[in-house]
Amino acid sequence: MSQVVPTVRLEHGTSIPQIGVGTSPMLDQEAERAVASAIEVGYRLIDTAENYRNEVGVGRGIKASGAKREDLFITSKFNKDHHSVGGVRAAFEASVQKLGVEYLDLLLIHWPNPAQDRYVDAWRGLVALREAGLVRAIGVSNFKPAQLQRLIDETGVVPEVNQIQLSPYWTRDDARAFHAEHGIVTEGWSPLGKRTNLLEHPKVAEIANAHGKTPGQVILRWHVELNVVPIPKSQDPQRLAQNLEVFDFELTDDQIAALSALDGQATEVVDSDSFGH
Ligand SMILES: NC(=O)c1ccc[n+]([C@@H]2O[C@H](COP(=O)([O-])OP(=O)(O)OC[C@H]3O[C@@H](n4cnc5c(N)ncnc54)[C@H](OP(=O)(O)O)[C@@H]3O)[C@@H](O)[C@H]2O)c1
Repeated sequence: MSQVVPTVRLEHGTSIPQIGVGTSPMLDQEAERAVASAIEVGYRLIDTAENYRNEVGVGRGIKASGAKREDLFITSKFNKDHHSVGGVRAAFEASVQKLGVEYLDLLLIHWPNPAQDRYVDAWRGLVALREAGLVRAIGVSNFKPAQLQRLIDETGVVPEVNQIQLSPYWTRDDARAFHAEHGIVTEGWSPLGKRTNLLEHPKVAEIANAHGKTPGQVILRWHVELNVVPIPKSQDPQRLAQNLEVFDFELTDDQIAALSALDGQATEVVDSDSFGH
C-alpha cells in the first residue's frame, strides 16, 4: 500500500516531505528501477546530485512512475566547479536537462570546499535561481554553522535546508541547534549509519522489538522525532517500503534519549573542511 508522507514547511513557503529516498551510490540503470519503485510505494522526495552521475536514470525512473511532476519533490546538488553565479545556472541547466524536468524543488551546494572559498558566490547563484522561479527552494549540504553564518552575513539570505551526515551515532547537536535557531531544516544523509554497525546495535534491536518494528524503522523514526528529514538509500523494494512505514508509531522520550546517547560511538563524521567535490 502506498504511504502518505507528512511534510515540513520550508522558510520560503514550500514544503518538503518528512522522509525521502537517497540514490547514491546507484548508476543510471539501478537508479531508474529504484526511483520508480520508491515512487510507487509512496516516496515523493528524491535525492540526487551531479556527482552521483545518475540524474538521467533518476529522471527515467520518475517518468516510468507516471507520477505528476507537482506531486514530487526533486533535489539535486552541484560540485565545486560550479561555485560561481554563472556556474550555478549552468549546473541547474545540466541537472534539469538530464532529469527531464523543468524545475527543481531544491538545489543544494553539495560541499562548501572552503579551500576554494567560492561558496558565497555559489550561494548568490542559488538565490538568483530562486528569484527566477527555476528552483522552489535553495540550500546547502555539509556546511558548518560558521559557514552558514557567513552566507547569512554576506547575503542576508538564510539557506532553507542543510543536508548533513546524521544518525544516532552522529547526532550533530550543535548543527541542529544552529539550524533550529535560523529556521533551517536539517536533512540527514547516511541516516541508517552506513558503514557502521548501527542497524545491529542491541539498543536499536531492543527498541525495535518493543514496537514490533525493524531496526531501520526505529532509526528513521528517531530522525522524524528530532524533526530531521532522513533520506535513506535502498534499491530493495521491500526495504524501500519498510523505510517509509515510520508514521504509525512514536518513540518515547526515554527511547529517543537512549538512541541519542549512542552519539560518538562510531567513526568520526566526514570533515567537510577537508573533504568535498
Ligand atoms: N550530501 C552529501 O554529501 C551526501 C553524502 C552521502 C549520501 N548522501 C545521500 O544520502 C543518501 C543516504 O545515505 P547513504 O546511502 O550513505 O546511507 P544510508 O541510507 O544510511 O544506508 C544505505 C545502506 O543501508 C541499506 N539499507 C537501506 N535500508 C535498510 C534497512 N531498512 N535495513 C537494512 N539495511 C538497509 C542499503 O542497502 P540496500 O540498497 O540493499 O537496501 C544501503 O547499503 C544517499 O543515497 C545520498 O542520496 C548525501
